Amino acid sequence: MSQPSLLVLYGSQTGTAQDTAQRIGRQAQRRRLQVNVLPLDHYNVASLISESLVVFVSSTAGQGDPPDNMKNFWKFVFRKSLPVGSLRNLDCAVLGLGDSSYPKFNFVAKKLQKRLLQLGANALLPVGLADDQHDLGADAVIDPWLDAFWEKVFSLYPSMAAVIPLREDEPLPPTYTFHFLDDVSEKTEDRLRIPTEQSVPSQSRPFPARLVSNCRVTDSSHFQDVRHIEFDISGSDIQFSAGDVVMMYPCNALEDVQQFCELLRLDPGAMFSLRATGSTAVPPRLPQPCSLRHLVEKHLDVAAVPRRSFFELLSTFATNEVEKEKLLEFSSAAGQDELHSYCNRPRRSALEVLADFPHTTAELKVDFLLDLFPEIQPRSFSIASSLLAHPQRLQILVAVVRYKTKMYKPRRGLCSSWFASLDPQAQGEVYVPLWVKKGSLKFPKEKDPPVIMVGPGTGLAPFRSAVQERIAEGKHDNVLFFGCRSESKDFFYRSEWEEKMEAGHLTLFTAFSRDQEEKVYVQQRVRENAELLWDLIANRSACFYIAGNAKDMPTSVCDALKEVFQQEGGLSSEEAEQMLLTMERTGRFQSETWS
Ligand code: 2AM
Repeated sequence: MSQPSLLVLYGSQTGTAQDTAQRIGRQAQRRRLQVNVLPLDHYNVASLISESLVVFVSSTAGQGDPPDNMKNFWKFVFRKSLPVGSLRNLDCAVLGLGDSSYPKFNFVAKKLQKRLLQLGANALLPVGLADDQHDLGADAVIDPWLDAFWEKVFSLYPSMAAVIPLREDEPLPPTYTFHFLDDVSEKTEDRLRIPTEQSVPSQSRPFPARLVSNCRVTDSSHFQDVRHIEFDISGSDIQFSAGDVVMMYPCNALEDVQQFCELLRLDPGAMFSLRATGSTAVPPRLPQPCSLRHLVEKHLDVAAVPRRSFFELLSTFATNEVEKEKLLEFSSAAGQDELHSYCNRPRRSALEVLADFPHTTAELKVDFLLDLFPEIQPRSFSIASSLLAHPQRLQILVAVVRYKTKMYKPRRGLCSSWFASLDPQAQGEVYVPLWVKKGSLKFPKEKDPPVIMVGPGTGLAPFRSAVQERIAEGKHDNVLFFGCRSESKDFFYRSEWEEKMEAGHLTLFTAFSRDQEEKVYVQQRVRENAELLWDLIANRSACFYIAGNAKDMPTSVCDALKEVFQQEGGLSSEEAEQMLLTMERTGRFQSETWS
């Protein structure tokens, strides 16, 4: 049988599945195989019928959903009109990346394998179910799964097995080469432009929204810096409703950009254009030509904790024996515990790793920058305003992430810290590329049942949007439970709520956890208002929503709600559980939680 080329298709939300797909691609290259690695939505799915060997790698997002960059593929592959048997010639393997602490563990990969089989494909091995919760990390599943995959492929195509693979320490060619331009001034760099064509902004066409304001909404003595941020979206065609989320690309801190350029001895002003060495397209977000400053500031994720693949590639540049030995250890299966202690636990950034390996860093070739560093991923935020109350505006509520590890410098969230650094008053006009997508929370549209919302901390954001939208639509049965540490320090949007209560458009219950000796949380307020809640839910078909930090809060609120059902409705604990499940199934109970 002739040797086929390998296609690796992935669906990735945060970049992990992409990294794994690229790793499979490199393994194939080392075996001197023709390989193409692509996000599923960049692949013309109708061509699958003529493929012979495909690996699918997919994570599972949110509530069992496919990642954004495979949504179109997902719709297509489940079309009823696809003929059974159409993938008869396809040998495939499906690898899922998931987390078994979520109920829909690896749901997408399992469902995909089933569907491919239905369409006639031949699965080379059982679907791989990598698990972030595994004691030894996801690689504990991925490594043996890949070994089994290659073994199977070699048995099907013995000519492949006969090929002498490249040595592990022999560098592979870069995906792109950099061509520096002498005579192009930085002024020609493709900056963010207002799109001239009218089209709804999306990931491939974000809208550069003007930052209108960025104000701290917590007292200066409060431990946490939380920001209310407003964007001007006029001229964008962006529409959204309560529950939707905004996506945006953050930038690296200028000091990180500077340090990176110094470590690698790069001239930030140097302009280059990229050329692909194989079939991988140039990243569409990168202007051509582009400055190194733009590349480092807006594209390379140098502040993230690096993955194992970073060490694998870095080790191929090492000539210093001590550094090489350490890097090879971090790249090996046996060194993963060590790597975890060095990188993941203290949340060490890729930039800090480079500083720890100065000899190797000095050897790095610029052509490999896009292989070494993943692209900065877009971040999502619940929208905190309604277009009905704030036309042409989009507002969010963001906690600036900052915490200590054993590292000397405090750790900072990339996106929230970047926001905190933006000051439209001092810096002149600041534009942030963004787009909007549907969120998981859906508020009743046609009918008008009351809504009960539980949103402690920044979980309040989608409910501010919902309350504004509902009031503008004349829906005044709004009950909100809000929890924060202190009435005087982090009671977000207090005056707005008071106004709405006075107008009779809102009932608000607050739990200030640290204003007295004993902690008080929102779930206690839910219990205290059992009679009202039961009346709204049982007699008036109210919908119930929870949003906020996924620790124990959602479970505790659900427990409190079930107690309300038992106490006021006389239900047994099984009946209360059943009632909540039914509400969930019919969309009357929804939650959106994040960590
Ligand atoms: P704490 O920080 O005083 O413990 C927003 O973060 C609010 O949610 C704070 O008042 C916080 O209280 C509270 N909170 C923390 N853990 C919670 C939980 N498990 N259930 C409900 N609220 C919680």
